[in-house]
Amino acid sequence: MNNDYSYIIHNNGDVSKKDQALAKELFPVSIAREARKFHRQIPGYKMTPLEALPNLAHMLGVGGIYIKDEAQRLELNSFKVMGGSFAIYRFMKKLLGMEDQELTFEYLISKECHDKVGDITFCSATDGNHGRGLAWAAKMLGHKCQIYVHSETSQARIDAIKKYGATVTVVDGNYDDAVRQAAKDAEKNGWYVVSDTSWDGYTEIPTWIMQGYTSMLLECQEQFAGMGIQKPTHVFAQAGVGALAGAVVGFYTALFPENPPLFVIVEPNKAACVYESIKADDGKCHSVKGDLDTIMAGLACGDPSPLAFKILNGNGDVFMEVPDYIAARGMRILSCPLKGDPFIISGESGAVPLGALYSLMTENTDENLKKALNLNEDSLVFMVNTEGNTDPKHFRRIIWDGQDPVPREYRTRR
Ligand SMILES: Cc1ncc(COP(=O)(O)O)c(C=O)c1O
Repeated sequence: MNNDYSYIIHNNGDVSKKDQALAKELFPVSIAREARKFHRQIPGYKMTPLEALPNLAHMLGVGGIYIKDEAQRLELNSFKVMGGSFAIYRFMKKLLGMEDQELTFEYLISKECHDKVGDITFCSATDGNHGRGLAWAAKMLGHKCQIYVHSETSQARIDAIKKYGATVTVVDGNYDDAVRQAAKDAEKNGWYVVSDTSWDGYTEIPTWIMQGYTSMLLECQEQFAGMGIQKPTHVFAQAGVGALAGAVVGFYTALFPENPPLFVIVEPNKAACVYESIKADDGKCHSVKGDLDTIMAGLACGDPSPLAFKILNGNGDVFMEVPDYIAARGMRILSCPLKGDPFIISGESGAVPLGALYSLMTENTDENLKKALNLNEDSLVFMVNTEGNTDPKHFRRIIWDGQDPVPREYRTRR
């Protein structure tokens, strides 16, 4: 066997085949600027680092590898808060009838604002990271938060949500069951759902969440400019429901419509709902059922977000589904870097794009795929480390105990 990941070459970098309309509509740079302006007012906000790994890039035969390190986002260990907080901001603007006016963070946390809107309860399902970000944002604004998790969610992730005062409900089943239960209970109790995934008739808040993520990408573009780089040539993005990947693909498509980077979407093979939907090739979302048993907890989603899928289907170039050891390998590479490269703490879902790149460049990659990817010494590869050590017990099992080892036939030969 050549390798044990699967791939689909979809748009293959061919701009004429792409459908950019939705990306351009939802992700103009002005929205990213608005989100950034809001995020900048959050106490403790600072840009997360964009790390270059020149020695690994040289080893793999590419021109550069750049990793936005969201493990360092506020105190939250993940990028997710960028979406949830911006969605709450936009939601409050609407509730206050201030859509065309300036709404400052200071006003949002004021007693006057609180008295105007009354007691609000925000609600969402999560695999951990979105719930933590939402609970943190709700607490900051003095509102309540109800978070739904599935039964396999680790205690560490639950505790990290409860720390910010949210009530956590554990639902039998997987992430998608938690999404459905959260929506049902919210309707019954008059809570406001702030979900990162969309469904029929529920797209406004998921759009704001995805737009909120682009504030992080605007930071990247500023950081790239400081390095004399106009744009990455390749973007590797991991997908759960696809909202992050959709935002990354949407942002870069809208910014560089003539020559966007080549987009590679990476998912766990045990929860590859975007991949399966692309494979079906009918433009529709298809679900993956079962317990979605992958170490990449943040990506363990069986239902794609239809909104995100539309952007990914229209603009994604290569879609991959990969086994867990590829994420574990990415984590180990980042936590034990080549001399001169930075040390990056990365959780399972954060490290999988790097694991995928490493596998593509070191294993016996299919010639068709190599040709489609066109990765060479001129390539500047960008990815987001979307989480740090969000589950310390699992993290140690992988890094210290060697859980999910690379199978003998795929081990590094050079
Ligand atoms: C660490 C991490 N990375 C990536 C993702 C993927 O995001 P999405 O579900 O928007 O595809 C998530 C989602 O929760 C996550 O927690």
